[in-house]
Amino acid sequence: MIISGKELSAKLKADMAAEVAAFPAKYGRVPHLVVILVGDDPASVSYVTGKAKASAEVGIRNTTIRQPADISEAELLALIAELNADPEVDGILVQLPLPGHIDQARVIAAIDRGKDVDGFHPLNVAALWQKQPCTLPCTPKGIIAMLKAAGVEIAGREAVVVGRSNIVGLPVAKLLLDENATVTVAHSRTRDLAEVTRRAEILVVAIGKPKFITADMVAEGAVVVDVGVNRDPATGKLCGDVDFAAVEPKASVITPVPGGVGPMTICCLLENTIECFLRRRE
Ligand code: GUN
Repeated sequence: MIISGKELSAKLKADMAAEVAAFPAKYGRVPHLVVILVGDDPASVSYVTGKAKASAEVGIRNTTIRQPADISEAELLALIAELNADPEVDGILVQLPLPGHIDQARVIAAIDRGKDVDGFHPLNVAALWQKQPCTLPCTPKGIIAMLKAAGVEIAGREAVVVGRSNIVGLPVAKLLLDENATVTVAHSRTRDLAEVTRRAEILVVAIGKPKFITADMVAEGAVVVDVGVNRDPATGKLCGDVDFAAVEPKASVITPVPGGVGPMTICCLLENTIECFLRRRE
């Protein structure tokens, strides 16, 4: 079975659009998401465009602020302070990665915790790891939603996450733990990675290496979630971290690239924006 993140996210977006349509009468306006893009990295431009398009589909107001790659850290922090103080702004997203001269951690920490739609603020990360109410990071949240929608049993099963980033690997491992999976986090320094990934009943791959996971690394019947967004060096086409053509026949359930995790990430960003909007009104 191939889980279509595209189909699932279309359904979720239709539900959100109906919810948001009632907001002007109820609250006087719709939620407002501000996305900051520094520089013109093509992948980042494409992600930010996708976020704006999806916001429009759901009726969420989206402002994308583009800044030059040589913006100073102080200028970026001043912009964030302004958005934090603006009562008409509900969500703030700074597209990552940032240019090397800017301290990413300092920028993330500067965002008002209640407007942190990415769930990257240190207080949101701490709350996640302490099982306290928090904004969940979008990609991990989308992955769990996809698994549940596909009827995948998580509790008690062996899950292997390949990759240990703050954005995906670590938080998705925590969410799988919270769903009572037995979780292993593997990474570039893992000895005999194939032996570890073959143990997985649920395999989540987020390493950013085109077609890195081959059929011999996957157990028969495994559930495979591919978070990668890469260019295939051979064809120039979009591909995941999993060699889909080779692995799909072995997997019981698999997510495609494109049309898998990506649309779910955007969907969860919209959900988080609505959550932040509503929380500010409580
Ligand atoms: N860059 C890659 N993924 C993400 C994400 O989920 N949020 C932000 N802000 N930047 C990213």
